[in-house]
Amino acid sequence: MPTIISVASGKGGVGKSMVVSNLGLLLAQKGQRVILVDMDIGGANLHILFGMFHPPSTLTDFFTNRLTNLEDLAHPLANPASLRLIPGTGETLITANLQHAKKKRLIRHLKKLDADIILVDVGAGTSYHTLDFFLLADHFLAVATPDPTSVLDLYRFIKLAAIRKVLSAFLARDPIADALLSKDFHSVTEVLEAVGRTSESGVTLAQQALRGFQPALILNRMTLKSRINTLHLQNLLKQYVGANLSVLGNIPEDSQVQQSILKYLPVVELSPKAPAALAFEEIAKNVLKLVRGGKETKNPLEEPRKIRA
Ligand SMILES: Nc1ncnc2c1ncn2[C@@H]1O[C@H](COP(=O)(O)OP(=O)(O)OP(=O)(O)O)[C@@H](O)[C@H]1O
Ligand SMILES: [Mg+2]
Repeated sequence: MPTIISVASGKGGVGKSMVVSNLGLLLAQKGQRVILVDMDIGGANLHILFGMFHPPSTLTDFFTNRLTNLEDLAHPLANPASLRLIPGTGETLITANLQHAKKKRLIRHLKKLDADIILVDVGAGTSYHTLDFFLLADHFLAVATPDPTSVLDLYRFIKLAAIRKVLSAFLARDPIADALLSKDFHSVTEVLEAVGRTSESGVTLAQQALRGFQPALILNRMTLKSRINTLHLQNLLKQYVGANLSVLGNIPEDSQVQQSILKYLPVVELSPKAPAALAFEEIAKNVLKLVRGGKETKNPLEEPRKIRA
C-alpha cells in the first residue's frame, strides 16, 4: 500500500504546488514510484507546473464516472517514468458540492494506487473538502512562509484540522459531535475539555484520534530575517494546538524558483545547484525518513544554519 503524504498551508500562494512538484520529482529520482494528486479543487494547476497544458483526463472524469479506475488518470510525466500525475478538477457543481460518498470513493481508490508515495496537493483554505483531503494521509506536511498572515492561516488550518479529526472519531448525532460543531474553539485543549464535560470515555477517544496527528512544517521563502517568526509559529502551535511540530526543511527565497515556473520545470531539474533545489535535497531525505518510519526528523532550527537567499 502506498504512503500518502498531504501538503497544505491554509493561506494560498505560499508554495504548496511548487513543493509538491519538486519533492515528487526528487523522490522519483531517488527510486520511489511517486504519484502526485492535485486535489486543489477549483485551483488545480499542478499539471501546468510540468508543462501539461491539456491533460487527457482529470479528477472531474473520476467524479462524473466517465473513468472509474483512478489508476487510469495517473499520467506519466516525462522523466523519470516513475513520476505520474493525477490532474485536478475545475470548479464545477459536482466538485463544489462533492458528496461524502464520492470523497470516500476517491480515498479508497487512492489507497489502492500502484505507487510507493502519493503526494496530495490539497489546495488553500479551510473548507471541509480541504480538511478531509488533508486528513486522509499517513503523513501531513504544512507549508508556510514567514509572513505573519501565512503563520496565522497555517495555525488556523492546523487547529481546524485537529478539531475535524477529533470530530470524525465520534458518530454523527453523538452528543459530543453536536457540542463540538456548535462552538468556536480557540485551542485543541478546549476541545478536549468540552468532550470531557460530555463523557469521560470520549476524552480517551479524542486523544487517540489526535495521536498520529503531527504535521511537519516546510518553511518557504526564507530569508536571514525569518528565524524569529518561525519560532513564534512553533510556539503558537505548541501552545494552542498542543502539537510539537518538527521542521522538515527551510526553502530559501530564490529567483530560480520563479524562473523554473516560467519554464514549466521543477527547479530541481532546471537548476539543481540553486539554493532552493539544494534545500529540496534535504527535504526529500527527511521525507524518506518519515516514510520509512525512521528516527524522528531532526529540527533544523535547533542548529542555526546559513540560509542562502
Ligand atoms: N522559494 C521561493 N522563492 C521565490 N519564489 C517562490 C518561492 N516559492 C514560491 N514562489 C513563488 O510563489 C508562487 C506561488 O507558488 P505556488 O503556486 O506553489 O503556491 P501555492 O501555495 O500552491 O498557491 P495556491 O494556494 O494558489 O495553490 C510561485 O509561482 C513562485 O513565483
Ligand atoms: Mg497550488
